[in-house]
Amino acid sequence: MTAPAVGARVRPATLDDLPAINDIYNYWVDHSPATFDLEHTTPGWREGWYRERTGAGYPVLVADADGDIAGWVCLSRWSPKQAYAKTADESIYLADAFRGRGIGRALVLAVLAEARRLDVHVVMAGVTACQEASLGLHRSLGFIEAGRYAHMGYKFGAWHDVVWLQRHLWRPGD
Ligand SMILES: CC(C)(COP(=O)(O)OP(=O)(O)OC[C@H]1O[C@@H](n2cnc3c(N)ncnc32)[C@H](O)[C@@H]1OP(=O)(O)O)[C@@H](O)C(=O)NCCC(=O)NCCS
Repeated sequence: MTAPAVGARVRPATLDDLPAINDIYNYWVDHSPATFDLEHTTPGWREGWYRERTGAGYPVLVADADGDIAGWVCLSRWSPKQAYAKTADESIYLADAFRGRGIGRALVLAVLAEARRLDVHVVMAGVTACQEASLGLHRSLGFIEAGRYAHMGYKFGAWHDVVWLQRHLWRPGD
């Protein structure tokens, strides 16, 4: 699988990629309210996370920049309740050094293509309201703001709102 990222190839993640995926995530645990985790996710937890998604047929994709994992994106089921079967939750994290080069855009485009292949009807992205880059990325790819939940998480001494964005895939070409 390829995508037009500058200097990176988007491909499905393998078990060998999990240490890099976990390191990228844990950097943002330490440095940003983009994630509401307060403690690092462990390698064992990350393997379960990976197997849960891929075992259910959902994509976990990485951007591979000549062997360095520049970032990752995944889909998971929004809710176990049956009527939510075609609603997916998207998550994306870039290594800090690779931000701002079009790799986030390439990852989201690739995961939207996977969502269409899986006949997903709507992709959800929950974004901490102060995260302008993530809001800008998702809006630029057709995600529409569906609601803002006030004071959903407390991190770094402040309450944070969460903006929920939706990308519907119900029309041909969407
Ligand atoms: C948010 C994130 C995934 C964006 O990835 P990226 O590779 O840096 O973004 P790209 O270079 O592909 O930019 C694509 C578009 O996103 C938007 N964008 C990117 N950075 C932005 C910024 N700092 N401010 C506003 N919009 C921004 C722009 O619309 C941009 O398109 P343009 O370059 O044509 O203007 C990345 O910065 C990241 O991992 N941040 C930390 C973790 C995080 O917030 N994850 C999301 C959790 S919901």
